[in-house]
Amino acid sequence: MGKYIKGIMIERSEIDEMCQRLGEQISADYTGREVVLIGVLKGAFIFMADLVRHITIPCYIDFMSVSSYGSGTRTSGVVRINKDLDGDITGKHVIVIEDIVDSGLTLNHLKQLLGTRNPASIAFCTAFDKPERRRVEIDVEYVGKRIRDEFIVGYGLDYDGRYRNLPDVAILGDDGTGGDR
Ligand code: IMP
Ligand code: MG
Repeated sequence: MGKYIKGIMIERSEIDEMCQRLGEQISADYTGREVVLIGVLKGAFIFMADLVRHITIPCYIDFMSVSSYGSGTRTSGVVRINKDLDGDITGKHVIVIEDIVDSGLTLNHLKQLLGTRNPASIAFCTAFDKPERRRVEIDVEYVGKRIRDEFIVGYGLDYDGRYRNLPDVAILGDDGTGGDR
């Protein structure tokens, strides 16, 4: 045990507004073009589903699954590709959709990897951002909400595969009896 839900940080209604704002912004910025939206599994699955319904320009949806080695609340900095894209992104306008940017290592790695496939452009969109924890500098064009350094779960975000189903974003607490953070 050790981990417990300490409280709600972000309510559904605020998340809804966030998705609408980002969807409208992306639709305006890419008017007249088609985008390839790449959801980073598993964490982005709920955010992606909400966001795309506010995007009014043509889009091709794809997914990629990556994981940093090890489980728990700290990233190891090494990213492994579990599932690659189905489609070719050469010459396409790509937007990578993430659940949260923490150290920035995952996005940095994806930027380099996807960059070698010669897309026309590449941008990043994240539901949540913890800028205090950044270890590499990375531009994130679309940010839903900047948050303080707390470990959050719900709305697709997990701790060791769990809590993704919580409709709001909750803070994960630790009672000190175990766990790894
Ligand atoms: P980064 O590579 O350190 O930027 O970490 C990105 C990944 O770490 C995210 O896609 C999440 O899977 C995970 N992560 C970072 N912070 C949190 C958090 O507060 N809650 C749940 N997962 C997190
Ligand atoms: Mg995760």
